[in-house]
Amino acid sequence: MMRLTAAAFAGLLSFAATTGRADPTWPAATDEMEEIVFQLQGFKGRLFNDLINPCNNEAAGPGRVTASEWLRLAFHDMATANRFSQTGGLDASVQFELNNGENTGPGHATSLQFFANYLSSRSSMADLIAAGAYASVRACGGPIIPLRMGRRDAASANNVGVPQPQNSVATFRQQFDRMGFTAAEMVQVVACGHTLGGVHTAEFPQIVPPGTGVNGQVGLDSTSAAYDNKVVTEYLDGTTKSPLIVGPAVAINRHSDFKVFNSDGNATISAMSSPEAFRAVCQRVLQKMIDVVPGGVVLTEPIAPYAVKPVDMQLTLVSGNRLLLTGNVRVRTTDLPASSIDNVVLTWKDRIGGNSCGSATSCSTTSTLQGVSNGFDDTFGFFPISVYIPAYEGISSFTLKVNLKSGDSQSYDNNGNLYPMTDGIIFQKPQSCLLQGSGALTATALVRNDLTDLPISLGASYLTPRNTDNPVPVLNNANIVMTKGDCSGAYTFYSASFTIPGGLSYNARISVTAGEGEGAVTDDFNHGGALGGTCVAFSDAASCSSITTSSAVSSLSSTALVSSSTLLSSPTVTSSSAVVSSTTSSVTASPTPAKKSVVGGYAFAGCWTEGTGTRALSGPAFAYDGMTLETCMTNCTGFDLWGTEYGRECYCANNLHSTSQRAPPEDCNMLCSGDPTEYCGAGNRIELYSTTATRSTTATPTPTPTGTLSRKPTVGPYALVGCQTEATTGRALTGAMYADGSMTLESCATFCSSFTYFGVEYSRECFCGNSLSAGSVPAPQSDCSMTCAGDRFEYCGAGNRLELYKLATEPTSSAAVSSGPSSIPNNISTTTTPTTSTSTTAITLSETTPTASPYTFLGCYTELPTSRALSGPSYASRSMTLDSCASFCSAFQYFATEYASECYCGNSLAPSSSQVPTSDCNMPCAGNPLQYCGAGNRLQLYSLPNSEAPVPSHPATIGSWIFSGCRTEATGTRALSGKATASSDMTLEICADFCEGFELFGTEYGGECYCGDGFAEGSVEVDEGECNMVCNGDEGEWCGAGDRLSVYRAGRD
Ligand code: HEM
Repeated sequence: MMRLTAAAFAGLLSFAATTGRADPTWPAATDEMEEIVFQLQGFKGRLFNDLINPCNNEAAGPGRVTASEWLRLAFHDMATANRFSQTGGLDASVQFELNNGENTGPGHATSLQFFANYLSSRSSMADLIAAGAYASVRACGGPIIPLRMGRRDAASANNVGVPQPQNSVATFRQQFDRMGFTAAEMVQVVACGHTLGGVHTAEFPQIVPPGTGVNGQVGLDSTSAAYDNKVVTEYLDGTTKSPLIVGPAVAINRHSDFKVFNSDGNATISAMSSPEAFRAVCQRVLQKMIDVVPGGVVLTEPIAPYAVKPVDMQLTLVSGNRLLLTGNVRVRTTDLPASSIDNVVLTWKDRIGGNSCGSATSCSTTSTLQGVSNGFDDTFGFFPISVYIPAYEGISSFTLKVNLKSGDSQSYDNNGNLYPMTDGIIFQKPQSCLLQGSGALTATALVRNDLTDLPISLGASYLTPRNTDNPVPVLNNANIVMTKGDCSGAYTFYSASFTIPGGLSYNARISVTAGEGEGAVTDDFNHGGALGGTCVAFSDAASCSSITTSSAVSSLSSTALVSSSTLLSSPTVTSSSAVVSSTTSSVTASPTPAKKSVVGGYAFAGCWTEGTGTRALSGPAFAYDGMTLETCMTNCTGFDLWGTEYGRECYCANNLHSTSQRAPPEDCNMLCSGDPTEYCGAGNRIELYSTTATRSTTATPTPTPTGTLSRKPTVGPYALVGCQTEATTGRALTGAMYADGSMTLESCATFCSSFTYFGVEYSRECFCGNSLSAGSVPAPQSDCSMTCAGDRFEYCGAGNRLELYKLATEPTSSAAVSSGPSSIPNNISTTTTPTTSTSTTAITLSETTPTASPYTFLGCYTELPTSRALSGPSYASRSMTLDSCASFCSAFQYFATEYASECYCGNSLAPSSSQVPTSDCNMPCAGNPLQYCGAGNRLQLYSLPNSEAPVPSHPATIGSWIFSGCRTEATGTRALSGKATASSDMTLEICADFCEGFELFGTEYGGECYCGDGFAEGSVEVDEGECNMVCNGDEGEWCGAGDRLSVYRAGRD
């Protein structure tokens, strides 16, 4: 039971009183399904109800109510149950039965396809189908069906047995009896299903003859998108128009609902004619339907949302021997407004269950509300956790306390078990990466030194598409032994690589495990889609054999070292104060970094920690890969103080927060990402610079920032969903877009005001849409780290990361909603022009290749997975034509149209954009149906004929040097460690000359040049297209990119 500490508050108590149940003990096997089913919209919303919200949503096209397709799917899956042989039931066998003649129509396949996005080792397809039935009924205003979990997926088809309209009453009775339903329950469950949706001409032309329905469909009652008792009352009072009761079906004995309802002289159906009776009966009988499972499957208790739930809790080792604990505490706010909560306090126990946490006075952290989400019946508030924990003390568990503004508070101890958290093994996300295109996964685990005798393994649970007509992918598991690497304080690095086949790697779940069986320690179910494409180097690791402990580390509380010494039994750990020189000496001849005492009008003011619970410098903040002290200074013009942190972050302010503490200067040991000769702080360490100007008054004369950088939970009518990836094969939001140097969340919200979603990416790009494309998945909020080009106090996504917002309430205008899957904004009534006609013969491309003078057609080209093929300006318009795009791009070498309504310009085409058959570019231009304007992920590309602008490339040879690909930097060090230079007029030729005598040279970031005789460990070859920055001194050559080297090898002569 929860432990009550102070006067308990009414809201949470009423929850306990109404459900009669405490939270499950966390973590529970049902946690993933709990989130999918209840945490629907808003911050961290799982969007499971997106296609059935509102109930009449026809996500798959006109005449197809998605909610009714989900409910019918659950029945068809269950209907093959055989209670005598204990086989069948709700077991997802329907995926193998789609072509057996009983499961006609496209609805089963499209429903399964949507559910497949949620399929995982903790959410079976059968549970998802059951959850779909629950959700469809609830979305349409029906009762809450108690939802048990634990169904298992069948591996093959069951026997046939879905009732068909032509069957006799005796056959229906037999069939339902086989499923476990009485004669009365048969009547009930049919009525409870047939209150939604209709019969389709395409599936049953004899019952709904062509031309007799609307959009090919006739409703089973007059309100086919409302979960109400009309199906019963209209049958009883004779007003029904249901094609399974009256009409052409009668003459051919296919009026099955009449046969069923009338089978006991209307006794059962009459008893459910009141709205209340209908609701109560349906709640019971639909639960019975989804609870029919094969023998041996044991279902859980019905799930309910936690009152308080830790979500996405994750440890990460950061430099300086500290663990960072991140995640969220989700508080159910259904009966208790989020605004009445003051804060949530997380208090942790150290590794041995004690209260040691380094220099901090208490092992706790306080969090305030960051975002809200809601489900059908619940609302939630999210309280973000981000706290450093000394690695030598560690963490074993935590407790939570919710403090109300009224002064009341309630503590949660996970039913007396404390919330467990292991620091024995950590899936180290920054040093892990996944290339979603190829599925190449590099996984890094940190294993506590006392566990390194155990076998360490990487587990990948991933989906691969089937090659038959089955839309449900196969769930596979792979186990890979991990290899020991360097050490860092209390931890040892392990790594493994694995290529996830099948193209769905973003859906993979990754685990790292020490040991096997019962006693194994694991960090599991980490979402592949949340990994970056590049593994970031770890700055603080050293070879295990020569591991040293710096004076900074050994000066950590000595009691801490003693108390945990039994755990940290690594015999090779020695204490030495020479760590900096011993590790740097192994890096040969790279440019020597040094502390800069003066930068512009600012002087070095030391290395400082962040503030407690707040930033030490609370003004504007910036993060980017080309960070140098000079650019940070420029960003902070007008402020008295600025500082760099973590190699790539920059903060400005006029005051340093009082809780920031001075740290040893050598703590600030990370090199600036944009200049390896300068230091830019470290994790939680600020390289601080202070103005040398003398102020004319003693009062603070400089402008104070007018705001602080923060996430905005709402922007106008939109609420923050979170940070979201792009889709697998294109954009997540395909409605409209524009890009602008003055981008703010507000300007994007205004531009997208007729859409359900808007998202801002890469600081200056705005996208709108009514739904998210497949493969777009939530990413850690911290990924969305770029500030808006037009407002430095707002976040605007990052590369391949959308700061995503959704309308808090669905737009009421049916035009916006009913545009359905169409990606082109269309406010014109769709009833007059069926959208399907555009793909038929109505359009003929003119015989000659379409020209857009003075540009000529080059062909149809692909976009890239992570950036645009043409990276100049772009816009989208419902009146897009080739000519309007050509004139918009007139200052550029290339223009291209995409997705009917988008236009892109550029002076170079990214090298890995490849030409595909012209027929791929098959979407007519939104503004001229006689021209083609690309397609999804397909650019209709045009170029000026006699270009002055060169097309950049990697020349095969530079003198005697031979091109040998694009590579990443190494882990924790430069890939090429010979010598280095940088220049604002860098070319491949300059770098080649500079590196004469070496085996290899590489250019990076447009202007940097590195030489070496071999690659340091961790440097891997990547797609050539990732080296896509032109050389500062030659627009015709590529010079690497951020963390990407264009590499040349010395020739033989
Ligand atoms: C005697 C048993 C049943 C028969 C013969 C039967 C037959 C049918 C037929 C012929 C359709 C039209 C399908 C189409 O054209 O798309 C239909 C639709 C539907 N059925 Fe049944 N059904 C039976 C029982 C059930 C049960 C028990 C449920 C769920 C509890 C159910 C849920 C639905 C739903 C929601 C639709 C609408 C689908 C849509 O709009 O796409 N049916 N049924």
